[in-house]
Amino acid sequence: MRTRVGIVGAGPAGLVLSLLLAERGIESVVVETRGREEIERTIRAGVLEQGTVDLLTDLGVGARARAEGARHEGVELRFGGQGHRIDFAGLAGRAVWLYPQHEVLKDLIAARLKGGADIRFGARDVALRDVTSDRPVISFTDADGTPVELRCDVIAGCDGSAGVSRRTVPDDVRTDYFRAYPFGWFGILVEAPRSSEELVYAHSERGFALISTRTPDVQRMYFQCAPDERPDDWSDDRIWAELNARVAGGGFTLKEGRIFDKGVIAMRSYVCEPMRHGRLFLAGDAAHVVPPTGAKGLNLAVADVVVLARALERFFTANETDLLDAYGPTAARRVWRAQHFSWWMTSMLHLDPAGSAFDLKRQLGELELVTGSTAAATHLAESYTGWPIEL
Ligand code: DHB
Repeated sequence: MRTRVGIVGAGPAGLVLSLLLAERGIESVVVETRGREEIERTIRAGVLEQGTVDLLTDLGVGARARAEGARHEGVELRFGGQGHRIDFAGLAGRAVWLYPQHEVLKDLIAARLKGGADIRFGARDVALRDVTSDRPVISFTDADGTPVELRCDVIAGCDGSAGVSRRTVPDDVRTDYFRAYPFGWFGILVEAPRSSEELVYAHSERGFALISTRTPDVQRMYFQCAPDERPDDWSDDRIWAELNARVAGGGFTLKEGRIFDKGVIAMRSYVCEPMRHGRLFLAGDAAHVVPPTGAKGLNLAVADVVVLARALERFFTANETDLLDAYGPTAARRVWRAQHFSWWMTSMLHLDPAGSAFDLKRQLGELELVTGSTAAATHLAESYTGWPIEL
């Protein structure tokens, strides 16, 4: 079997890439180990940058995000028991959208299947071969048990941090830039109305907390915990006591409700460079991971494939490799900016278990600066809502 672009992974990077390529008349096949149902029900991120929503809209898949998602023109930073608003619209002229990642994936999958796309869900034994030749191969076993050899011109590795793509780049070619954080996020989903119109990022002496939302009836909340925290050790009462201790005050009250999901999320920063090996191009979490603070992950994946799609278009229409050669360095510039932003938000808001009283006071000084200086607040607003995509 042959295709032009073999895409490994049907997450945000893989599906947006296949849509961008289809728009340019470039054929692709998507190979995914998970089933469609699993992808469509796994709860992940929820914040879309303005540019991501604009792109989805241009691609004809933004209608539900705009209709059912919520546009947020600011966030609140809470510290010392008081809230301080960062006005995205006023400072950066942009906003973000709260719309769950799995809903984005539903919209993308529906659009691709309607467009006749070949998406192989439930593939097993996925392996990449001959990636430094001009006929790289994806081999896998189809959901019905048939072995498949998919010969490609180019492979896009969009299969996340645990996928085969990254591991196919040899150790002596790849540099791994990695940082672990000495804490995780305890995340819950709650049946309750919104506690506030906008997201609340809270700094407290007990650690970080984030009040986010999914729909008018379902709320997403997180609080900093130990990296190896066990969700079962936390009763609902204990969770509410901890969240309240971190966010309450200054007239803010948390609206509680039935907790129907709880889990612990690891926090790490990672970049693989180069983002390319021969005819294999890494995009999204296969190439980089950010800690969740600031919600850059999905948006960064989308930005990667915008750059990659343009490079592939040039390659297939003009037989020029200049933009493909520039893909990694171009994408990595944005990746490192986002790495800095995500690390900065994380370190400004979380309690370092090895930190001192000095560190806590220094964070409060930084938060005073960010909420008190227009220049500093503008930096946060521009970074959070997303920089323009550099091509
Ligand atoms: C959410 C996640 C984030 O990492 C963040 O910074 C804001 C919101 C969320 O899941 O809603």
